[in-house]
Amino acid sequence: MANLDHLITEAEADFAACDTTTALEDAKAKYLGKTGALTTALKGLGKLSAEERPKAGAAINVVKKGVEAALNARREAILDAAQAAQLANESLDITLPARAQSQGGLHPVTLTLQRIEQLFHSIGFDVATGPEVETDFYNFTALNIPENHPARAMHDTFYVDDDHVLRTHTSPVQVHYMEDALKENKTPPLKIIAPGRVYRVDSDATHSPMFHQVEGLWVDQEISFANLKGVVQDFLQKFFERDDLTVRFRPSFFPFTEPSAEMDMSWNGGWLEIGGCGMVHPEVFKHVNIDSEQYQGFAFGLGVERLAMLRYGVNDLRHFFNNDLRFLSQFSK
Ligand code: FA5
Repeated sequence: MANLDHLITEAEADFAACDTTTALEDAKAKYLGKTGALTTALKGLGKLSAEERPKAGAAINVVKKGVEAALNARREAILDAAQAAQLANESLDITLPARAQSQGGLHPVTLTLQRIEQLFHSIGFDVATGPEVETDFYNFTALNIPENHPARAMHDTFYVDDDHVLRTHTSPVQVHYMEDALKENKTPPLKIIAPGRVYRVDSDATHSPMFHQVEGLWVDQEISFANLKGVVQDFLQKFFERDDLTVRFRPSFFPFTEPSAEMDMSWNGGWLEIGGCGMVHPEVFKHVNIDSEQYQGFAFGLGVERLAMLRYGVNDLRHFFNNDLRFLSQFSK
C-alpha cells in the first residue's frame, strides 16, 4: 500500500487556506469524507492479505489521527480569530448613563401600623391577629350583637354568604384571643392589640370600603375606665409626639362594651373621630368563659387611616388607596 504520510502536510496546507469553519468542513471531505483519501484507503484494506492488513491499518490510522489533529487545531484557530474580531468590534460604551434604580418604600398605612405596634409593644401589649373572612358569630353574636339587633345595620356589612362576612371591625379578634387563651390555660392579665384590615360598604373622603383598625384589649382583675383613658391618651401623645394633644371621649354605644365612648381628636379646629372604646361587656366575657365578677377589661378600636391622615396632614383618605406613586413616594424614607 502506498505511503500516505504526505497527506498530513497536504491537509495542513489545505486547512490553513480556510478562513471559515464552513470552508474547513468542505476541505475535510477530501480526506475524511465518504470518498476521501483516508476513507478510501481504509476501505482498500479488505484487498490486502491477512498479514499485511494490521500493519497497513495501523499506518492509515496514524495518518488519520494526524489529519484530524490538523483539522481540530485549525477549527479552534478559526473560532478564536472570530471571537477576537467580535470583541474588537463590539467595544462597550461605558459613557452611557446607567439605568435608574427605583427604590421601593413602605406604604404610609404600613408605616403607621408599624409605629402603632412599636408604641403599644413598649407598654407590654402583644400583637394578635384573626381572619378577615369572619363568621357571623364572631363578628356579631359573640360581641353581644344578636340576630336582628339594630346594631348590625350600623355596620354596612359585606356578606360572603349567609353565615360569613368580611369582618366589619377588629373586635372579633378579642373573642378569638380570649377563647384561645382559655384553651391554652392562660389566665388574665391578657393584653393585646390586634391590627388588621376591615371592610364596610362605605366610601367618601373619610371612609373607605377597606380600611384598617387596631383593636386594643386589656383584661385583668382591676382594670378601670381610668386605665383606658390613660393608655389611649398616652399612646396618642406619643404617636403624634405632642404632650398638649387633646382627646375627647364622647358617651356612645357599642353592644360589646359598657360603658362605651367615642374618641375624637382635635383636628383643623374641629374634631375627627378616631375610634370607639369602653369596658368589655359581661356578655362578651360569658361567651369566652371569663368570670366577669373576677375580671374586668377595656377595649378600643382605632381607625388606622384616620391616624395616618392626621399625622401626615392628608385631607382625603382615598389618596392612600389610589396607588398614585407621586403621593405614595412622599412617605418612603
Ligand atoms: C368599631 O368598629 C368598634 N369595633 C370599635 C370598638 C372596639 C369599640 C372596642 C369599643 C371597643 P366604629 O364603627 O366607630 O367602631 O369604628 C372605629 C373607627 O374606625 C372609627 O372611629 C373610624 O376611625 C374608623 N372607621 C370606621 N369606618 C371607617 C371607614 N369606612 N373608613 C375609614 N375608617 C373608618
